[in-house]
Amino acid sequence: MDTIVSLAKRRGFIYPSSELYGGLANAYDYGPLGSELLRNIRNAWWKELIHKRRDMIGLDSSIIVHPQTWVASGHVGSFSDPVVEDTVTQKRYRADHVIEAFISGKDEFADMAVENLTIEEMGTFIKKYDIHSEAGNSLSTPKTFDLLMETKLGSISGEKNTAYMRGETAQGIFLNFKNILDTTRVKLPFGVGQIGKSFRNEVTLGQYIFRTFEFEQAEIEYFFDPEQSDWKELFKAWQDTMWNFVTKTLGINVSNLRWREHTDKERSHYSKQTYDLDYHFPFGWKELWGIAYRTDYDLKQHMKHSGVDLQYIDPYTQKKFIPHVIEPAVGINRLLFMVLCDSYIEEEGRTVLKLPYHIAPYKRAVFPLVSNKPDIMKKAQEVFDMLSEDEHTYWDDRGNIGKRYKYQDEIGTPYCVTIDYQTLEDDSVTVRERDTMKQERVSIADLNKRLSSSL
Ligand code: GAP
Repeated sequence: MDTIVSLAKRRGFIYPSSELYGGLANAYDYGPLGSELLRNIRNAWWKELIHKRRDMIGLDSSIIVHPQTWVASGHVGSFSDPVVEDTVTQKRYRADHVIEAFISGKDEFADMAVENLTIEEMGTFIKKYDIHSEAGNSLSTPKTFDLLMETKLGSISGEKNTAYMRGETAQGIFLNFKNILDTTRVKLPFGVGQIGKSFRNEVTLGQYIFRTFEFEQAEIEYFFDPEQSDWKELFKAWQDTMWNFVTKTLGINVSNLRWREHTDKERSHYSKQTYDLDYHFPFGWKELWGIAYRTDYDLKQHMKHSGVDLQYIDPYTQKKFIPHVIEPAVGINRLLFMVLCDSYIEEEGRTVLKLPYHIAPYKRAVFPLVSNKPDIMKKAQEVFDMLSEDEHTYWDDRGNIGKRYKYQDEIGTPYCVTIDYQTLEDDSVTVRERDTMKQERVSIADLNKRLSSSL
């Protein structure tokens, strides 16, 4: 974990937020490299799961929507975590996480599933085993803590102005379901995907970008007729899609992935079946991507609370009904965290991020061998202009070539191209591959073709 955090900071992927003021827990900024990596992951998701499928469309809905949305969805009232407080420092902890830390590695609790405990049972357990905070103080009785982040709208104060920063992007899809039916030619089964920021009042600290106050979600609501489609088959097909995206598109090692089904007690109020695709993060197996069968719960709730008919009319049979949905929901930041962990390699005295070609922040780097020779600089500029037409290209004319390679290895750039004295004679350059460290002479005319082969 420390190595990843340090590389991410050193090379400009991830900075702790507001460092000038001492930082803010659970908040991070994405630097020049991190913002490129996020963008590439986001684009890969959009391309694979929306553009390449004829049954998928995209959406970009508001972060702040009518507060009644969150009453209808059930988030107001039930979107909460069990929290205990250090009775001396008042520092808050997730009660389930405190228990998990306490039982970890103890054989007598090997079969215990903390996710199945009620809040009362957590309180009893903490008391029975006299569990203390990390500062050694006693803990309060667990209480529920609302995750939805409140905000005020407009200039008038008062309860009417309370709104929420969205806790999931999903609700924006349900709110626009009728608009989509009325303005497009979709027919069931079809899915709507969107990527955007969500906000949660998270209590747990110190899990780096795994759990933050604001994060980017990529969610899909896949609508279908439960009488025409078997939900179990659709569910399985989406699980396969998620698996393929993670293993093939993002190149993640399968031994670091597993499926875990939610128990009845653990499942969200809206779901009939939920699975998590877990990744083996530096602090253990944790949820990367969830998939839930939300049935017709949300559309029904919005229909009830808004009074608007949200039924679908089958264009062939005229059958009128509320569609059901399957929801694959992932955090783009968690995908990025996983990609950093999985691609980080130390070998032969170097550190390398072995990122797949299409998600690497820079695909190529151009090095003029020396910066004080105008002919070489001019030629290198021409090569840079040509390469950056197609792909994001780095320019580096500082220091010795070995140091420049080291830097590019650490930020995962697949190819480095050096323009030297020979280039001026025969228009060839040295291409060096990140993974094999092999170098070869390539003519500038063949360069684009040579560099586009994916790693
Ligand atoms: N609409 C369903 C939903 O929001 P979720 O499991 O609460 O389900 C979906 O969230 C995904 O969003 C998670 O699998 C995770 O990748 C990401 N996520 C949730 N909370 C997060 C947080 N506080 N920080 C970063 N990512 C988060």
